[in-house]
Amino acid sequence: MAKNVGVLTGGGDCPGLNAVIRAVTRRSLDRGHEVVGVREGWRGLVEGRFHELGQREISGILPRGGTIIGTTRTNPYKLDGGVERVLRNFERRGLDALVAIGGEDTLGVAARLFEEHDFPVVGVPKTIDNDLSATDYTFGFDTAVFIATEAIDRLHTTAESHNRVMVVEVMGRNTGWIAVMSGIAGGADVILIPEHPITVEEACKEIRRRHDRGKDFSIVVVSEGYELAYASGEQRAVTQETVTDQFGHVRWGGVGAELGREIEERTGYETRVTVLGHVQRGGSPTPRDRLLATRYGLKAADLVDEGKFGRMAALRGDDIVDVALADAVAEPKRVPQRWYDVARAFFG
Ligand code: F6P
Repeated sequence: MAKNVGVLTGGGDCPGLNAVIRAVTRRSLDRGHEVVGVREGWRGLVEGRFHELGQREISGILPRGGTIIGTTRTNPYKLDGGVERVLRNFERRGLDALVAIGGEDTLGVAARLFEEHDFPVVGVPKTIDNDLSATDYTFGFDTAVFIATEAIDRLHTTAESHNRVMVVEVMGRNTGWIAVMSGIAGGADVILIPEHPITVEEACKEIRRRHDRGKDFSIVVVSEGYELAYASGEQRAVTQETVTDQFGHVRWGGVGAELGREIEERTGYETRVTVLGHVQRGGSPTPRDRLLATRYGLKAADLVDEGKFGRMAALRGDDIVDVALADAVAEPKRVPQRWYDVARAFFG
């Protein structure tokens, strides 16, 4: 039976979103279904804003960054009558199923709607932070790591020329996946992440040790969610705003500058700071992310077809499987010790 399938992208944008939209649409149209883009995440369902998706709309979008249907961090559970409006607009538009593409926030809403209202939704795991459980990798992460690694490579040559310490602040919220992976790939000399916080004193010791060995430049990668930790036991988070968004997140940013100042003061080595920011989320997805996003999109369309709601497409090894949405959002996936050990092997 032909279905009306809604597609929504929520949370921060991420390379590969359009590749998922394309795959979901392509497979659904091939099966005789209709596909409707929900504008700007959950906001589109709260406000009843839709956008038909056909062959023409998805043409040429595979390599394009961002999302053609827009995104916001709207949380219907935080809006007066938000959930009722979502349910009403879904029904009014005649939708039979929804593919929600997002991270812990967007998928958290999806999981709750499924649990509380039997809402016919399937999820696709998106985030450059790679912090979603129940999947090996989220799409968008590979591109962010690629961009950060390239930046580190570029900083290497200028650090070397000027005998400087270069601090690179990368995104990742409360997890250090981007920092660890790009730091290892880029040959960083110290990596600071929230999950395994070494102290500022230890970081300076590693840099000094390296310089004592005859190297006169260093690369330090710090994850935005790393809290400055000191030998005294003091720990301090650096954020831009303490005001939270509708999902309770603070806006991270600024730890690189503070760390850079500390390193310069404590070691006497000239230090510069680079904040990569949203560059990590922009532009074209890597081939790996295009492939992952495409496979996730096809799987999501299959789940819709089979009526397997409350599930999320996930990567296990080399297989695309489906897992419970609730499991994916139960708790964030943190960088395990074994990965930090790989990074540590090259400190100093
Ligand atoms: O979750 C993705 C992410 O890019 C985080 O790494 C970062 O902290 C946050 O989003 C930035 O959000 P915004 O785009 O709202 O500034």
